[in-house]
Amino acid sequence: MSKIKSVYVCSECGYESAKWNGICPSCGQGNTMVEEMRDSTPKSKSVTLKFNSSHVSQVSMDSIDINEETRYHTGFNELDRVFGGGIVKGSLSLLGGTPGIGKSTLLLQICNYLDKNLKILYVSGEESKRQIKMRASRLGVHNENLFIMTETDINLISAEIEFTHPDIVIIDSIQTMNNKNSNSFPGSISQVKECANVFLKLSKSLDITVMVIGHVNKDGAIAGPKVLEHMVDAVFYFEGDNQTSYRILRAVKNRHGSTNEIGVFRMENEGLQEVENPSAMMLAGKPEGVSGICVACVMEGSRPILTEVQGLVTSTSFGNPRRMSTGFDYNRMSLILAVLEKRAGYFFSSMDAYINVVGGLKLDEPAADLAVAVALVSSLKDKAVDDNVVAFGEIGLAGEIRAVPNCEMRIREAQRLGFKRCVIPYYNYKSINNINNYDIEIIGAKNIRGAINESIESS
Ligand code: TYD
Ligand code: MG
Repeated sequence: MSKIKSVYVCSECGYESAKWNGICPSCGQGNTMVEEMRDSTPKSKSVTLKFNSSHVSQVSMDSIDINEETRYHTGFNELDRVFGGGIVKGSLSLLGGTPGIGKSTLLLQICNYLDKNLKILYVSGEESKRQIKMRASRLGVHNENLFIMTETDINLISAEIEFTHPDIVIIDSIQTMNNKNSNSFPGSISQVKECANVFLKLSKSLDITVMVIGHVNKDGAIAGPKVLEHMVDAVFYFEGDNQTSYRILRAVKNRHGSTNEIGVFRMENEGLQEVENPSAMMLAGKPEGVSGICVACVMEGSRPILTEVQGLVTSTSFGNPRRMSTGFDYNRMSLILAVLEKRAGYFFSSMDAYINVVGGLKLDEPAADLAVAVALVSSLKDKAVDDNVVAFGEIGLAGEIRAVPNCEMRIREAQRLGFKRCVIPYYNYKSINNINNYDIEIIGAKNIRGAINESIESS
């Protein structure tokens, strides 16, 4: 007789408990415990291993052959860079993102550009063969070595993979996969984990590259790819606003490359196109002569990107002033407001303050501090920053502007996009070898007051 019992599983870390908790005892996240029904009847007898010398599989480290890893190029430079120079043979990666963001489109499109000798198996649990074919023809994907399988049973899929031994397997999506022999129910977090484990084993034992798609909700509430992050070699998130056509691919974990790089794409009628000049994209539509706007230059991996920071400061209607920040750390914004008040005499205590980074970038680099401060003061004083000014630098608690790395690359990017004036930290300014090499006015600021004067007052 089958026995059904319920367990509560954390969608962030996979912790299991017999009773519900508001806060997960393991990872401390709130409201993440989801009820799951389990069939506790044993499905198969457990296997007890007896000692047998053939089970020993340790090898000496010296005997392991580490040839340069084989990488597959995807035809998208933006994608290859985020992957660390192409997709590594035999790796298991997870591509997460909200539904409709373009995950299936991206992976189907690369099938057109991957080496045509590679055998690709595209397993879809979401769409019919006809739908996939229609999408592929719309995207112009023609590849004789691309095979489609519409199946959700993990046992059939793994048998097919073992039998046909493709080079690349795409799973769309992990949430639709299920294991009939499992005690948990399809779609549950435990099944998602179990199925991912099967792909991990297949990928490692057969040296097959597996790319798994996983849907995430905006608040991460759905049976999440979060619980898979530790299993896979690389985790990528495809982000963007469904209302706009820009998409950013970001590596959250990468065993074969850096996690700093981002790839920028645009969703068009013919699928995703790469954006080779993200600075121009980020600045498209920037209003001119309006207060509260300052352009920052931040490093995204090895690339400098110019981006527009908007600040809005209005008087508070209630007792507590409101602070809100999109694309910039909230606590860092509070800190900058405090420094502006204490070290430069700009008072925000009876003001609501908002920060918005246009274009969907997340500025987690301290070099963005100065642009945030300038945008806030510009809005407070209702005085526009000159349209030709770029400002970057880290703000210290004493109100000093501290040096940032890759200064000259940032200046060159500002110059390339036609900016005329660059406000940078004084210590970076002093270390520039030949200032006359630049066709842009460079100003070194020692403290926040000086930097604001150079950006707003003198413009
Ligand atoms: P899709 O790849 O199905 O999203 P996901 O797999 O992440 O759920 O992308 C769906 C969206 O992309 C859909 O809203 C329509 C849009 N789209 C285009 O704008 N152009 C195209 O060529 C394609 C294929 C999709
Ligand atoms: Mg899809």
